[in-house]
Amino acid sequence: MGSEDRTQGWETRCSLQDVQGIPLLGPIATHWKRVETFKAFPEDVIIATYPKAGTTWTQEIVDLIFNHGDADKVRRAPTHFRMPFLEMTAPNPTLSGLTQLETMEPPRIIKTHLPIQLLPNTIWEAGCKIIYVARNPKDSVVSYFHFDHMNLIQPEPGPWPQYLDRFMKGKLGWGSWYDHVKGYWKEKEKKNILYLFYEDMKEYPFREIQKIMEFLGYQLSGEVVGKIAQLTSFAAMQGNPMANYSSVPDTIFNRQASQFLRKGEVGDWQNHFSAEEDAAFEAHYITAMADCSIPFRFLI
Ligand code: PPS
Repeated sequence: MGSEDRTQGWETRCSLQDVQGIPLLGPIATHWKRVETFKAFPEDVIIATYPKAGTTWTQEIVDLIFNHGDADKVRRAPTHFRMPFLEMTAPNPTLSGLTQLETMEPPRIIKTHLPIQLLPNTIWEAGCKIIYVARNPKDSVVSYFHFDHMNLIQPEPGPWPQYLDRFMKGKLGWGSWYDHVKGYWKEKEKKNILYLFYEDMKEYPFREIQKIMEFLGYQLSGEVVGKIAQLTSFAAMQGNPMANYSSVPDTIFNRQASQFLRKGEVGDWQNHFSAEEDAAFEAHYITAMADCSIPFRFLI
């Protein structure tokens, strides 16, 4: 399936629609039944994140692990064709992550932003391994804001102060960041979830790649792990047309507004939050996270 096929049918920014209390892009909500009937295989690997947490980065690492660090094999196609986005669908549902998945043999690497309670049951029944990546909320919301300017499918972001407010109230696509990170955290031991942090991946890429490798049951040499770290550095992925979403047409990704691989840093929030916004955010964060102590780092 060519990139033209996958992106046909989008004419405008989507509005959000409620699915079991979670705001999702309209076409996903319309075709939700298809997500519920998805069939997972035990060998499938699920990469779950709240948007902008480092999904694409982790997908690239996992594909390289599956391919023993062979860069040529991983350059066979752009990210979204190699590793479908489970719930994503164009208004025409034949153009969807699920349709792509139906044509692929396991083990499949599957991206999702669904909160844990919306994951299709078959993922639990099959016992799939799940890699969850969490990123601190300040950098997440900044990245999401730029992404929503660029991605012409996403709802209009509007001005930054209101956008930040909507993030804190859980009103952006895929719902509350707070509930999302807590939902997977609370289930991680029971449900075979490897819980990673973007900030750790940035500071200790070799160590975090090794963790992923061991979780997936691979034994690769230090040399191969080092090669994977180099191939998945921000600069390497930014320059790799199979990992930087450059195949998505400008009618969908407005690159005048932002880039998909935009900055890739920890702490960029400091360039966006005013002192007042930061104080209000911190106070809200303490309350919202009071029932779950997750060691987020806002700077490294
Ligand atoms: S999406 O649309 O939700 O799937 O986006 P996602 O891939 O989760 O997140 C995009 C942000 O991750 C950054 N990124 C990286 N950072 C460091 N190293 C590598 N290799 C890397 N690859 C992607 C990307 O730049 C986005 O963050 P920002 O802060 O906007 O730059």
